[in-house]
Amino acid sequence: GVDSLVRVTPSMLKEKNGRKGKPAWSSYQGKVYNMTPYLPFHPGGEGELRRAAGKDGTKLFMEVHPWVNWENMLGDCMVGILVSEEQAVP
Ligand code: HEM
Repeated sequence: GVDSLVRVTPSMLKEKNGRKGKPAWSSYQGKVYNMTPYLPFHPGGEGELRRAAGKDGTKLFMEVHPWVNWENMLGDCMVGILVSEEQAVP
């Protein structure tokens, strides 16, 4: 359920930028995914996908391939939901 999801703030997301051994997290329409396991499988290449690491990738995604159903593809990689800094768990 929604209560078991990690509440991820933009500053937490920014930390998971995929550099220096850190995981690459990205948010898409309010949902946060660990992209690391998917990186080698992205048909557009790992480098393109990494451009969205540590941030919201919705705009980049929609510019390139709005028809792709990422929710089907990344279901198992979902780690949480994006919340504002104020909504972080105390
Ligand atoms: C191609 C998935 C994020 C750039 C593709 C394709 C899929 C895919 C399935 C093949 C599409 C097709 O042939 O119709 C995903 C998923 C993403 C993601 C699941 C994250 C949820 C991104 C992002 C970028 C990007 C953030 C850009 C910064 C590209 C490019 C191609 C591509 C350039 C190649 C298009 C071409 O061959 O003409 N991606 N993508 N993707 N993707 Fe992504």
